Amino acid sequence: MDNNKTELFNQVQLGYVVVESKKLADWRTFAEQGLGMHVAVDSDKEVSFRIDDQAKRLIIQHGPAEDVVAVGMAMANRQVLDAVLKRLEKLDVTVQQGNDADAQSRGVKALWYFKGPKGLQVEVYCGAVRDDAPLDMLTSGFVTGNGGMGHVAITTRNPDRMMAFWQSLFDARLSDSIRETIAGITLDITFLRFNERHHSIAVAATQEPNLDPIRTRVQHISFLSNSLDDVGSAFRRLKSLGYEMAHEVGQHPNDKEISFYALSPSGFEIELGCDALTVNEESWQVNHYQGISLWGHKPQKTGLISFLSLNGANLIQGLRSLRHKEFFPF
Ligand SMILES: [Fe+2]
Repeated sequence: MDNNKTELFNQVQLGYVVVESKKLADWRTFAEQGLGMHVAVDSDKEVSFRIDDQAKRLIIQHGPAEDVVAVGMAMANRQVLDAVLKRLEKLDVTVQQGNDADAQSRGVKALWYFKGPKGLQVEVYCGAVRDDAPLDMLTSGFVTGNGGMGHVAITTRNPDRMMAFWQSLFDARLSDSIRETIAGITLDITFLRFNERHHSIAVAATQEPNLDPIRTRVQHISFLSNSLDDVGSAFRRLKSLGYEMAHEVGQHPNDKEISFYALSPSGFEIELGCDALTVNEESWQVNHYQGISLWGHKPQKTGLISFLSLNGANLIQGLRSLRHKEFFPF
């Protein structure tokens, strides 16, 4: 069988995300007491969280980046993994196999990794380590299953190459797109799915000139809660712990998800939502929407000073991004 012709749709999931931060204690408070996750590991090198029976889903490792440094892509089986590795070989991408310590640090049995778009490390694996110990969480639970752990949103100056990466390597499909104008900047956001989850990757790009207005590689990571009650409870807990809402509760027009965005200790956003629709492949139509929210998602801080500090910083970052070429493995 020619592995390169294997159809990978529905056999790939976003499995875990790795963040590098110096603020491990703050991350523990944010994710355990705020988002309501289960603490799986807490040491001076790492704090990691479970949201289901997978050993780790959100891994914060000690380091200076204050950014997402790796995403773990789960392959349904060894055949799918081999197909991806074969595609990478054909594309001349240097792939390394992680050692036992690497696998253990991710909560998987084995992994292969390479430098992905924007320098984000992409890790592929099949077979996570399962942890049957009961979850100790301040929430009724998170939606994972066939859809994986949630999604990540990435800004890029080169949306065509960014989308081609996920589509040609993992057979991602286009769900829909949204045009949004924030502070005079027009953003086009494209939503890609690997399975029934409406999107596991969102790609955001400014129109000409192509700027990257975000300091971090990933603009936000998202998790899906079981219920609106869980979203509301987490919102209240995070606010009472003193965390700022980048966007308060609102609803997206495409997947109908109701969510909020909190500023994480590393400065990028974490979205927590519920009631996102799943895609029926038989009847799905690709639509284009104007505006990222049907209602809500207003910033908590609306004053002139926070507007200027946020958008001034974004403008400077955007101009800086013009000096560097964005990395793509192919
Ligand atoms: Fe999102």
